[in-house]
Amino acid sequence: MATRKAIPAAVVNGTGYGGMELLRLLRRHPAFELIEVTARSEVGSPVRRVFPQLADCDLTFTERVERAEVVFVGLPDSAAVEVIPGLLAEGRRVIDLSAGFRLRALTLYPTWYGYEHSAPALLAEAVYGLAEWAREALPAARLVACPGCYPTATLLALGPALARDLISPDIIVDAKSGVSGAGRTLKLGYHFSEANEDVSAYGLSGHRHWPEIIQALDTQRQPSAQTGDLEPLRLTFTPHLIPMTRGILATCYATLRPGVTLADVQAVYADAYANEPFVRLAAGPPHTKWTLGSNLCYVYPTIEPHSGRLIIISALDNLVKGASGQAIQCGNIMYGLPETLGLPQEGVYP
Ligand SMILES: NC(=O)c1ccc[n+]([C@@H]2O[C@H](COP(=O)([O-])OP(=O)(O)OC[C@H]3O[C@@H](n4cnc5c(N)ncnc54)[C@H](OP(=O)(O)O)[C@@H]3O)[C@@H](O)[C@H]2O)c1
Repeated sequence: MATRKAIPAAVVNGTGYGGMELLRLLRRHPAFELIEVTARSEVGSPVRRVFPQLADCDLTFTERVERAEVVFVGLPDSAAVEVIPGLLAEGRRVIDLSAGFRLRALTLYPTWYGYEHSAPALLAEAVYGLAEWAREALPAARLVACPGCYPTATLLALGPALARDLISPDIIVDAKSGVSGAGRTLKLGYHFSEANEDVSAYGLSGHRHWPEIIQALDTQRQPSAQTGDLEPLRLTFTPHLIPMTRGILATCYATLRPGVTLADVQAVYADAYANEPFVRLAAGPPHTKWTLGSNLCYVYPTIEPHSGRLIIISALDNLVKGASGQAIQCGNIMYGLPETLGLPQEGVYP
């Protein structure tokens, strides 16, 4: 594969956690050249003053994108929906971290996100950017909607089992996230004194990632041989906030189809992930600490011997494979670059 040099890239906005992680990764990327970074709160400030850890970055935050060919968007979803149609109309390609273009059905936005979508025509066009599942569609994409961090962990855990019909479509996902999953914008529940030494569940009446997970998992499933329809997927998704900075751990429970053994499960997962550069099968329950700062997702399927239930555990860094790293992985595929280009394949430990 030829490596094209210097594809002019921008980050909108670079002041959030996802945006800052894009800056960290894109500045070292051999093919994307980061030429612009926008902000709402820091227009005119040098990036290195706002983020001293990016000490050799000589960019200044601007109000809007002027020159970039590809734009990585790290805005809240409603702001992303306002900005992205204009970027596309200017002829730019867009890779969006937000949920603004993830859901196909327009009616889901008022129900799950509380707003009427103002660019419905783009929902059909957007490519859902779980890189492992979207390799065929990404090269032609103008707009990529990267999955959420919880969905990425859940989909990589459950996809092979559902695609090969190893389990009945009645699933429980018990997931934990570090506090950076909620972004850098101040919120009371994420203050140190509130979140430290505390664990709690949230979103029990329905988390926004629920319809996204169902929509994506349904693309992997086979219709019933008898009816030709997809058996409806019953998903209980319970997220938890835990006192760590980065990381998602998703523990998924499902009932195996009759006769399916651990050897069958292991063979399906080994086959699914044999050639995936960023998905690794773990030999035991994975730790979020294995993934910090990397674009890796570890997956561990096993059968709990007393109940016979399948348990699949996945771990990733929410800001890398769960957001900015995945966006760059999609960008690499869009531009015909080696998929791993510029992306860390080893975590920082401990
Ligand atoms: N955090 C994660 O783990 C994660 C994972 C996957 C996907 N995502 C998605 O990625 C996006 C960014 O998340 P984040 O965690 O980076 O959020 P964040 O840290 O809270 O940053 C939000 C960014 O959006 C800007 N912003 C906020 N409100 C705005 C508005 N009304 N109009 C224009 N700009 C606005 C902020 O700019 P100023 O600071 O300059 O005001 C900041 O750059 C979200 O859509 C989120 O759902 C996040």
